[in-house]
Amino acid sequence: MPEVVVVAAVAEAPGSPADRLIGDGMDLPWHLPADLRRFKALTTGWPLVMGRRTFESLLHQFGGPLPNRENVVLTRHPSSVDHPGIHVYGGLEEAVRAFADRERLFIGGGAGVYGSVLDPDGAVQADRLELTFVEGEFEGDTYFPPYRHLLAENGGPFHLDASKRHPAEGDRPAFRFDTYVRDPTLGR
Ligand SMILES: NC(=O)c1ccc[n+]([C@@H]2O[C@H](COP(=O)([O-])OP(=O)(O)OC[C@H]3O[C@@H](n4cnc5c(N)ncnc54)[C@H](OP(=O)(O)O)[C@@H]3O)[C@@H](O)[C@H]2O)c1
Repeated sequence: MPEVVVVAAVAEAPGSPADRLIGDGMDLPWHLPADLRRFKALTTGWPLVMGRRTFESLLHQFGGPLPNRENVVLTRHPSSVDHPGIHVYGGLEEAVRAFADRERLFIGGGAGVYGSVLDPDGAVQADRLELTFVEGEFEGDTYFPPYRHLLAENGGPFHLDASKRHPAEGDRPAFRFDTYVRDPTLGR
């Protein structure tokens, strides 16, 4: 089966209602070109699995599916999502099985899809987390699931493999690119 990689940009504001924000309506809570470049570099050439609302937010933000990668859209009403060149599936397991011959696939959100692959009892489990932590108090309505208990520093199965922080500059918030890898010798 492919390596299952979560890619997400997540607000980091511990103790604040903004902590773990990922979305604001059809948009992201922030404007961060460096993160969009990283997202493109990571996912180009690979299947990108996402929920129906995330796909609609891509249409809203970029005017169409993302180029040079398979856009794989999950919906419980497959006949209602119709766009040239995309792959539509009624469930996550089915979508992952359809790309069983690929070395890797990305999970691009939103909230429920991230939750499924981070659930220790889920049928599809994340192997790696490519997270961008955006520091600050943003506004929005969609949240990354609770994840801190999954990190090795808190007894979970994901250990930090790489981390690079970029300090705030002008209007741009500070952010950090963190890669976490599942260590099968650690807990669930
Ligand atoms: N910061 C980030 O990295 C990031 C990444 C992605 C998205 N976002 C933001 O998050 C928001 C969108 O996310 P969201 O959580 O609201 O929605 P979403 O997860 O993208 O879409 C939810 C819909 O996806 C379908 N779906 C989800 N899981 C499914 C499953 N296992 N099987 C079949 N269908 C499934 C259902 O569609 P039907 O209702 O059609 O059945 C469900 O209503 C936007 O604000 C977007 O900008 C942020």
